[in-house]
Amino acid sequence: MVEKKKITAAITGVSSYVPETVLTNHDLEKLVDTSDEWITSRTGIKTRHILKEPGKATSDMATLAVNQLLEKKGIAKEEIDLLICCTVTPDLIFPATANIICDKAGLSNAWGYDLAAACSGFLFGLETASKFIETGKHKKVLLCGFDKMSSIIDYTDRNTCIIFGDGGGVVLLEPNEEGMGIQDAICKVDGSGREFLHQKAGGSLKPPTHETIDAKEHYVFQEGKTVFKFATTNMSQVSADIMERNKLDSNDVDWLIAHQANKRIIDYTAERMGLPKEKVLMNIEKYGNTTNGTLPLLLSDFEKTFKKGDNLIFATFGGGFTWGSIYLKWAYDANKS
Ligand code: UT7
Repeated sequence: MVEKKKITAAITGVSSYVPETVLTNHDLEKLVDTSDEWITSRTGIKTRHILKEPGKATSDMATLAVNQLLEKKGIAKEEIDLLICCTVTPDLIFPATANIICDKAGLSNAWGYDLAAACSGFLFGLETASKFIETGKHKKVLLCGFDKMSSIIDYTDRNTCIIFGDGGGVVLLEPNEEGMGIQDAICKVDGSGREFLHQKAGGSLKPPTHETIDAKEHYVFQEGKTVFKFATTNMSQVSADIMERNKLDSNDVDWLIAHQANKRIIDYTAERMGLPKEKVLMNIEKYGNTTNGTLPLLLSDFEKTFKKGDNLIFATFGGGFTWGSIYLKWAYDANKS
């Protein structure tokens, strides 16, 4: 009897998009009481990209990246089975932004839905999407992580406006029989942390009214210091846990792909994992925190750095609270294609 090979879900392509308009720390100095020195030293951020064009939304950025990826891979639109869009800034409350992307990109055979888990959305999405591949039911799944954070940011609040930016990326997941792709995942939530990072109004708890608008309750609220403490503790712990569970030491890990919220949180996580800074990928200085966009933007920016078989550890922490880690074996050499 021929033994059936185990199917794993591998990332086989990546593409990204950030809008053209750049908002620098010096631009922010003119909007709020802050300084380039404070922002750089406390967060590591220098610039972020902002989607300014009227009438453009999360789906427009994602559609551009999806089209680019299909072209790059030479894949026909009809071949895509499923598209998941991870976002906290959907075009509309409903229908799902995934549906809109499928329509705009002409993915006529795909079904789709949105996944909301704040800054851990893309990581939770990877775990979720991988299951459709592992069962053998789907052959080509697109996972988008995009946010237009500027649509929910108050540019008079220095606690939040210095952090966030717009953009994101998309990955293609396909079956692999060589053992590449997602090896293990740990996903966690603690809803009691919701009070420290949330958007107060606009949902069923507090539908929009003139009062909620006047009180600026449709913007991101964050108690930064508290979130910082939970983020450093939990993101570093979950990354150490996934290494231990898979018997990996720091020499076995090739790259840390961490959510780009604050350079200090990433440095702390890397230190806990025993990783030298050469293995810690960062682009926070260019994009700030793009929420669901940070992980695919890292994969896209550093795609040519990865070699087939490299061990990547993903780590996130976000509102909710949500956090997690994924251990993935990179499946291709972009340099050679
Ligand atoms: O992605 C989802 C998860 N989110 C995160 O992981 C974000 C976690 N939090 C953070 O990254 C940091 O807490 C922030 C970057 C948001 C803030 O940095 P911090 O080092 O925690 O600053 P802080 O809130 O403790 O504020 C320190 C001081 C305060 O002044 P006093 O009270 O010491 O006089 C703030 O008022 O810095 C002041 N401050 C600022 N000064 C200049 C706060 N924001 C600013 C600012 N510019 N933008």
